[in-house]
Amino acid sequence: MESTASTPPAYTTKRERWITPTMVLVGIIPIFTFALGTWQVKRLKWKVALIDELEEKLHREPMTLPKRVNLSAIPDFAYRKVMFKGRWDPEHAVLLGPRVRNGTNGYHLVVPLVRENGSTVLVDRGFVTKELADSCKKHLESGEVQVLGMLRTSHVRNTFTPDNHPEKGEWYWADVDAMAEHAGGEKAGVQPVYIEEIFEGHAGEISSRLSRGIPVGRAPIVDVRNSHASYVATWYALSAFTSVMFIRLLMKQRQARMRVPR
Ligand SMILES: *[C@@H]1O[C@H](CO)[C@@H](O)[C@H](O)[C@H]1NC(C)=O
Ligand SMILES: *[C@@H]1O[C@H](CO)[C@@H](O)[C@H](O)[C@H]1NC(C)=O
Ligand SMILES: *[C@@H]1O[C@H](CO)[C@@H](O)[C@H](O)[C@H]1NC(C)=O
Repeated sequence: MESTASTPPAYTTKRERWITPTMVLVGIIPIFTFALGTWQVKRLKWKVALIDELEEKLHREPMTLPKRVNLSAIPDFAYRKVMFKGRWDPEHAVLLGPRVRNGTNGYHLVVPLVRENGSTVLVDRGFVTKELADSCKKHLESGEVQVLGMLRTSHVRNTFTPDNHPEKGEWYWADVDAMAEHAGGEKAGVQPVYIEEIFEGHAGEISSRLSRGIPVGRAPIVDVRNSHASYVATWYALSAFTSVMFIRLLMKQRQARMRVPR
């Protein structure tokens, strides 16, 4: 451009100001958010594969729970259906919660099951309403029962979950080791094994159980959360939006620069 040659100082200052911290920042954001989106795509693929694997495990035939459970092998058997027999130990039953099910407040009833010639394991029998929580221990059968459940790995505690107070009977999260200890620990043959009882009845049966204070177990489904698809969409949308912003800013500056010499 010839006209710019007549005003060299103005041109150079303009040129220097072209790369401002704002431009750098606005230029980096689309790249950064795009990278985050791509990373979430990877996470999404991993999660989908994990869920497939768990689904596959869940649909296998129930296995008999060994007399003594190899604790280090539990992660390999998470979401496997297991079948076992024993007698409830109501004395060491605990109410885990508060929990909400379908808008109703209540607890989960966790009861040790004493297996003849085998270890005692912890069974999460499922949801009971708040009103009937204290009386629900009375509904435990006294003879030998057979339980179908799902093996779960240790639970992770949410940042906002309060501490458990076993001595006061307050259990906010399933601290499997502490629950096993509460039920008598290793010396009483209790293993820190947590099994969620499966309930496959229909809706009518659920309300009938709830009204009588009988726990309602979990459905045999994989409940692993997968929010990665929405994160992918969010990051890519942000990337696209900030790219447009960056391009508009570039065009504006260009127009401003071209206007100056005239
Ligand atoms: C327990 O399981 C782990 C992991 O699967 C395995 O390496 C180990 O040999 C098992 N131990 C026994 C005593 O079976
Ligand atoms: C939730 O409650 C409503 C109304 O009581 C009922 O129709 C519905 O089946 C319940 N859903 C589950 C999953 O229990
Ligand atoms: C437990 O062991 C005793 C003695 O070995 C045996 O008589 C009984 O049948 C066993 N019970 C079960 C449920 O395996």
